[in-house]
Amino acid sequence: MATLRLGDEAPDFTAETSEGKINFHQWLGDSWGILFSHPADFTPVCTTELGTVSKYKAKFDKRNVKVMALSVDGLESHEKWIKDINETQDTTVNFPIIADEDRKVSDLYDMIHPNASTNLTVRSVFVIGNDKKIKLMITYPASTGRNFDELLRVIDSLQLTAYHKVATPANWQNGDDCVIVPSVTNDQIPVLFPKGYTEIKPYLRMTPQPNLN
Ligand code: BEZ
Repeated sequence: MATLRLGDEAPDFTAETSEGKINFHQWLGDSWGILFSHPADFTPVCTTELGTVSKYKAKFDKRNVKVMALSVDGLESHEKWIKDINETQDTTVNFPIIADEDRKVSDLYDMIHPNASTNLTVRSVFVIGNDKKIKLMITYPASTGRNFDELLRVIDSLQLTAYHKVATPANWQNGDDCVIVPSVTNDQIPVLFPKGYTEIKPYLRMTPQPNLN
């Protein structure tokens, strides 16, 4: 298993999931993707996470993002657990969960960290661009549920960079000013950023968020 790094192609795989056999790259198509791991079925934090993500479907759809979860338990277990998630979280799970019993995908994405647990995955998150490249990796411990609003915030930032040549400053939130990426010259700014810009330093140029009216 090679170490995965930002900018690498997200490894492809074919896996059994709660929505049937899926080839990851084909399933992604032209979408962005999130692949995230869960230590085990029928655990409390994971149950709340999967419920939350189901409720965020419209937010992910709006950003052209498909979501796939993983745990090392089997399909029968997933099916029973999904019923529990739907019941306890007042939702309907609306994305596939990989049944990674042989740990093929966990190993491919280095989701098992033996000094944390020898047999369960940690909470890994991979954001994959529509070019199939890894854009973000975050690793949480099993005991901490992820902040999916933060994940949406990062996806918004990544998409602003991909489509509008801006980066986002510390603690940026949707609607705040953005940073013009260093590769854009001042000559290019009037065409690329018609809303104008402020040059605080030659290397620090701010512009209103380009994709808002
Ligand atoms: C949970 O999902 O609740 C959990 C899983 C493993 C360790 C701690 C919590």
